[in-house]
Amino acid sequence: MTTHQAGSADDLAIGERKLLNLDGTKVLLFHLDSGFHAVQAGCPHMLLPMKSGKLLDDGKTLQCPIHRAQFDIATGEVNKWAHFPPGIQMLNVIRGEKCLQTYAVTQDGGELSIEV
Ligand code: FES
Repeated sequence: MTTHQAGSADDLAIGERKLLNLDGTKVLLFHLDSGFHAVQAGCPHMLLPMKSGKLLDDGKTLQCPIHRAQFDIATGEVNKWAHFPPGIQMLNVIRGEKCLQTYAVTQDGGELSIEV
């Protein structure tokens, strides 16, 4: 594990996100009502980018823009696996349910850091 600087907490308003490349590991950093959370940037379904994924109305669930798997951003747990378009279940036989990797975020004097 290595600690990486992730910028100022003031630069990310609640509901916003940013993509970081931490020594080759792509991470999405979110600022939610519950605080700052970092998760893997690639969807565990097919490792496609989730930067433009939808933050659902509950303010804590990220929906993959490709096949709409849904993840709890704070815990990485799967709320709903890939379910779009119809027929995706055929692919899911070999691309089974997998949680989103999460990374610890700490805040010190307004500066954020992430353990990767
Ligand atoms: S790539 Fe994200 S649900 Fe398929």
